Amino acid sequence: MVYIKDLAKYEGKEVEMKGWNAQKRDSKGIVFMTFRDGTGFVQCVIDLNAVGNDQFESAKKLPQESSLSITGKVVKDERQFGGYEVHATAVKIIAEAQEYPVTPKEHGIDFLMDNRHLWLRSKRQWAIMRIRNEIIFSIHKFFQENGFVQMDAPIFTGNACEGTSTLFETDYYGEPAYLSQSGQLYGEAMAMAQGLIYTFGPTFRAEKSKTRRHVSEFWMIEPEMAFYDLKMDMDVIEKFVQYIVGSVLDKCKSELSVIERDTTYLEKVRQPFIRMKYDDAVSIIKGEKDVNGRTSLQMLDEEEKGLQSSIITLQKDIEEREKKIASGELKKGEINFNKAKVDQLKNDIKDLEEKLSNMPQWLNSAKNFERGNDFGGSDETVLTKMFGQPVMVHTWPGAVKAFYMKEDEELQGYAKGVDLLAPEGYGEVVGGGERETDLEKLKRKIVEHDLPMQAFEWYLDLRKYGNIPHSGFGLGLERMVTWICGLPHIRESIPFPRYYGRLFP
Ligand code: 4AD
Ligand code: MG
Repeated sequence: MVYIKDLAKYEGKEVEMKGWNAQKRDSKGIVFMTFRDGTGFVQCVIDLNAVGNDQFESAKKLPQESSLSITGKVVKDERQFGGYEVHATAVKIIAEAQEYPVTPKEHGIDFLMDNRHLWLRSKRQWAIMRIRNEIIFSIHKFFQENGFVQMDAPIFTGNACEGTSTLFETDYYGEPAYLSQSGQLYGEAMAMAQGLIYTFGPTFRAEKSKTRRHVSEFWMIEPEMAFYDLKMDMDVIEKFVQYIVGSVLDKCKSELSVIERDTTYLEKVRQPFIRMKYDDAVSIIKGEKDVNGRTSLQMLDEEEKGLQSSIITLQKDIEEREKKIASGELKKGEINFNKAKVDQLKNDIKDLEEKLSNMPQWLNSAKNFERGNDFGGSDETVLTKMFGQPVMVHTWPGAVKAFYMKEDEELQGYAKGVDLLAPEGYGEVVGGGERETDLEKLKRKIVEHDLPMQAFEWYLDLRKYGNIPHSGFGLGLERMVTWICGLPHIRESIPFPRYYGRLFP
């Protein structure tokens, strides 16, 4: 048996493949089947003259997603996905499928999510999962090549790491336990044992709202580094994210093209990241400070005008096509093509109009941002739009950050935290910083955050025995996949997403 990914090695030879019928059409004694085997997709040409009547007829009426084996000759064809097609000499059905619900036509998102276990087979979802796999692999490679030890934090925990508002409580032999929001506190203990460590595990946040950036269960990668300060932490974040994006750009070209990802902004990740303090970021968001002679308010104004002129262009296109359709000069096929195109253009206009209708709100919330607050999604978007590149915002107001963040010695009320914001509206993908080392300050913060001191006794021990400066960060895997793939929503970034309102499949 040969896999589709290896077909290039068999050019001109006969191979046997096993897989599924993803899609097919037939014309004049030939069935063209898009065949998939998990490793890829390939067009198979099943000719009546080559396979005989029985096999041809069974291929011709074979339902979508039936399993089968195809034997055939590998022929180079530049126009095909993957560069090859297979000319069948034998077709053997393994299992005929019942009527398959996920057809090549458009489906609504709820229907697709209900059928996630099947939807995963479609080409776009296949490509996204391959990219996710490359991201995971490159994360391990980066850390392993740089002397980090992978260690696992527990999932049942007795203490909250990231505040009590997003905890999932479970019954742990009659005692309350929480599903881990972050492995960090354990990561700190493990870094004291191994120097450089990273955790890679599932984390949970009860987020009772539906946004395109939040899931309730996500995979987080959390390195923790002994003797690193905030600056060193930011250097690692930059190198790490550049490494991941670089690996995907180098190794997933065909997957990126399947999902039609425009990689212009991803290429810019190879350049040094913009770094700035929270206070400067706020001045930029509010339009008090310009970037290369342009303020955020001007940028939003230009974007609004751009949206308006795009809508006019699309409307003209629709008018012309409708005129042509009405003229009576087109053939039936051309009419159908133009009608489909008009529907698509109308949908595009709807999307643009929705964006346009949000613009005044964006402008207002940027102008009126209150210094001292945490950033919302739109603030992050406005800031990164000014650069079109990843931006690291550091030195945050202590009040909006977690209890463990180190206070800034020079700037009272500020904490040595850093967020990495991805461009193109994707926003925060990494959060981290330097950890508080002062035992008394930590105790005070635990009380201020209304956390039970007793649950943190073990953590405080780390400050009593061989206290050291140290730093770390957390990368949300699904946020990274969403950004790199340019997905409209985080739910497509993980095989079986868990978010408010969804537990099945
Ligand atoms: O910024 P967060 O809350 O930071 C921490 O948990 C730290 N303990 C990390 C550390 O320093 N070791 O979360 C880190 C990242 C976010 O930047 C985001 O990418 C992701 O985790 N994240 C989520 N991803 C998807 N859905 C959610 N509900 C997420 N919450 C956080
Ligand atoms: Mg954060």
